[in-house]
Amino acid sequence: MPNTVPPEMWGDGPSELPQNICISALLEAQNLTPALQSVVASCPGGWAITPAAANFLGQLVGQLQPKSVLEFGAGSSSVVLATALSLGGGGRLTSLEQSPRWCVDQWALVQQQETVDAAMIVTKPELGWGRLGLYFWYKSAVQALAARAPFDLVLIDAPQFFFGRDGALPLIYPYLNLNALIVLDDAGRDDEKAAVARWLKTYPGLTLVYNDPDFCGKGLAVLKYQTEAKPVLSYPSFFSGVKQTLDNLQDPELRQLRLEQARNEFSLAHQCQEVK
Ligand SMILES: C[S@@+](CC[C@H](N)C(=O)[O-])C[C@H]1O[C@@H](n2cnc3c(N)ncnc32)[C@H](O)[C@@H]1O
Repeated sequence: MPNTVPPEMWGDGPSELPQNICISALLEAQNLTPALQSVVASCPGGWAITPAAANFLGQLVGQLQPKSVLEFGAGSSSVVLATALSLGGGGRLTSLEQSPRWCVDQWALVQQQETVDAAMIVTKPELGWGRLGLYFWYKSAVQALAARAPFDLVLIDAPQFFFGRDGALPLIYPYLNLNALIVLDDAGRDDEKAAVARWLKTYPGLTLVYNDPDFCGKGLAVLKYQTEAKPVLSYPSFFSGVKQTLDNLQDPELRQLRLEQARNEFSLAHQCQEVK
């Protein structure tokens, strides 16, 4: 059944997002409710989020009290975010996902949260270019995403490493509320480290508030949309973004993985669909 709880039913969250959130304290905190704790413990890691990252997301939702959360990559993280939103009185969860088949069970759990207005936007990474040089981004999701904006919290956990994650920022930057937080999973990978460096130079409103490249063997970074500032063109970022994507496009192993992904997705409609 679609979740259609209107925003006025989402509980009393703050009208402005809190400015000072101590990320390292939240990473260590272990005071989730039993219901959320059991969702966190069931996160398997691997392609899905780890229990430690899930615990952090649960803590973060409790502290930030976001009204609207966006995630790149649905799955276990969606269940954590939806449960945490629901415990805080409700909210909106928007998930960008390329392969809804891979997370059918998790999405069914998300839809059980009656106070969460959840929508999965089915989309796929496409090659584009802009201030960050060349990058894969969810171009077909632009309109559907705009209709669900603005966002207080964003989790970037997709697309897969063989596409790269640079393209997340061009998509979301116009739709961030002031003091919104962006959590990047897998931030320990070289491509993600380089992406964060390019984001910081290109989007001057962003500040890196936490960065542990060794977190759970995957890495975790948190950025904050701290000041309202327009994107700028940084030539070093532009050229390094072009080089990184050209290198990845030519890498035979990464190319093979992208081709396999495309073959697996052959039955998926090319247009963006929204699943409520
Ligand atoms: C890192 S996963 C995202 C996981 C999600 N945030 C979670 O916690 O479960 C990124 C994307 O990879 C895709 N994916 C999942 N399992 C995969 C697999 N075994 N091989 C390739 N891609 C996969 C899915 O489209 C998923 O959204």
